[in-house]
Amino acid sequence: MFSETIAKNLFTSLWMSFTGTTLKLKDCSELYRSVKNMNDEKHTIEGVVRLSIPKELVDVLRIVANHNKWRRIECINLIASENVMSPLAEAVYLTDMMHRYAEGKPRKRYYQGTRFIDDIELLVMELMGRLLNAKYVEPRPISGTIANAVVFRVLAQPGDKALIAPVQAGAHVSHTKYGTLGALNIEHIELPYDAENFNIDVDKAVKMIEDIKPKFVVLGGSVYLFPHPVKELANAAHSVNARLVYDAAHVLGLIIGRKWRNPLEHGADVVTSSTHKTFPGPQGGMIFTNDEALYKEISKTVFPKFVSNHHLHRLPATAVTAIEMMYFGEAYADQIVRNAKRLAESLHAYGFNVLAEHLGFTQSHQVLVDVRNLGGGAKCAALLEEANIIVNKNLLPYDKPEDVKNPSGLRIGVQEMTRYGMRESDMEVIAEFMKQVLIDKRDPREVRLKVIEFRKEFQSVKYTFDVDIESLVSKYIKIPFILDLRL
Ligand SMILES: Cc1ncc(COP(=O)(O)O)c(C=O)c1O
Repeated sequence: MFSETIAKNLFTSLWMSFTGTTLKLKDCSELYRSVKNMNDEKHTIEGVVRLSIPKELVDVLRIVANHNKWRRIECINLIASENVMSPLAEAVYLTDMMHRYAEGKPRKRYYQGTRFIDDIELLVMELMGRLLNAKYVEPRPISGTIANAVVFRVLAQPGDKALIAPVQAGAHVSHTKYGTLGALNIEHIELPYDAENFNIDVDKAVKMIEDIKPKFVVLGGSVYLFPHPVKELANAAHSVNARLVYDAAHVLGLIIGRKWRNPLEHGADVVTSSTHKTFPGPQGGMIFTNDEALYKEISKTVFPKFVSNHHLHRLPATAVTAIEMMYFGEAYADQIVRNAKRLAESLHAYGFNVLAEHLGFTQSHQVLVDVRNLGGGAKCAALLEEANIIVNKNLLPYDKPEDVKNPSGLRIGVQEMTRYGMRESDMEVIAEFMKQVLIDKRDPREVRLKVIEFRKEFQSVKYTFDVDIESLVSKYIKIPFILDLRL
C-alpha cells in the first residue's frame, strides 16, 4: 500500500538518524530492505552518500510517522466530517501539479504550461456533473467554506438578508453571522425549528420566507440526521424571487450513492460542497448548478475574488474518487446508512441516550448521543480518545451556544470506517468498546489495546479498484521529498 511505503521510508529515515549510517543505494526500496535485514548497528552498507539528518528534521519525520500510525492504523475514526482517499487517489494526489498555477478556466488560462491540468479539470467537471446530474460544475473553490463564500457573494450584497437552517438543525458556521455570511455582511435569520422531528418546521419556514423575502435560503448542515425539506422551501423561495442554496458538504456521498435525494432535482438552484466527507476525495470544495447564468457569475467570482491557486493536485484525486463513486457509490452509501443505524441501535441497547429513537435514530452517516449523564461531551470525547476512538463533542439541538466547550452530545460518523470495510456487526463491536469506556468506566488504555487489535482487520480501503499501485508508482510516479535519499 502507498501509505505503507511512506511509513517504511519514514522508519528508515529515523533509523539512520540514530545510527549515523553511511549509505550507498540504488534506490529507496533497497534501502528499506537492507535496514530491515540488519541485526546490529555495526552492519554497514557501502556508500557514497553520507546522510546527516538534523534534529529538527527528525522531529518532523517523527511527528508525521506518529500521526500516520495513530490516526491511520490504530484508531477507530468516527469524526463525521472526515474520510480517507483510496490508495489509488492518494497515488495521483502527489503529482507535479501541486507546484503549478492555472488561474482562469480550462483552455483560457492566465498561465502557460497547463494543457494537462486543463484536461484533468475538464474531466473532473464532467465526472462530477454526471454524478450529481448537474449541467455546470465549478471545481475551483479550495474548500466547502470558499464554495459557500462564492455563492453567498453572488446571490447577495452587504445588508441583504439570508434565511438559514437553524443551528439546531445543523447549520454550519459558514452559514452564520459568526462565519462567512457575517464576513460578507449578509444578515442571517434562522428558520424555525421543529424539535419533535429534529428538522426545520416547514409550515412556519414557508411563512417566514414569504414574509421576509430574503435573497436566498440555505439548507444542509453539519449535524443532521434527516434530510431538510428542499422541495417545499425551494417553492417558497422561488415564489418571492429568492434562491435556494443547498450545502451538501456532509452528504455529497449519500446523494451520489442515491441514499439521499438530489437537491438539484428537488428545486435547489445551487449546491455547494466539500469533497472529503461522505464523498471520500481530497480536501476541497465544489459548486453545482443547472442555471447557466448563475454558473457564469459563480465562475467570475471564484477567480479572481476568492481563489487564485486552486490547489491543482486535488483534481486527479477528485477524478479518481468520482470514478470510484460511479462504480461503488451506491453500495458504499447504502452500507454507511446501515452502519449508522446499527451503531445507533447498539448504543441505545447498551443504555446510551441516542437521539431520535422515535424516528429510527438516523437516515444519514451520523449518530447523535446525549452524554450529559456520563460527564458531558468534552469529558466523554476525551476518554474515548484515550481508547483510540475519535469522535467530537457537539452541541445538541437543545444546547445553548455558550455550551460549546462542554456540550451535551457526541457527534459520531461512520463513513470512514465503512470505507475500510466495516459492516453492521462491526458497529456492534464499536458500541461495546464505547460502553466499556463510558458506561462501565473501564480504563481506556485497556480498551485501546482491543481497539488496536480490532482495527488491524480493517486496514485497506474498500469501494475502489484493485490496481497494483506499487508497480504503477515505481514505474511512473517519482514520490517526492523524504522518500528519495540520494541527495
Ligand atoms: C455543512 C458544511 N458546510 C461547509 C463546511 C466547510 O467545509 P470545509 O471544511 O471544506 O471548508 C462544513 C465543514 O465541516 C460543513 O459541515
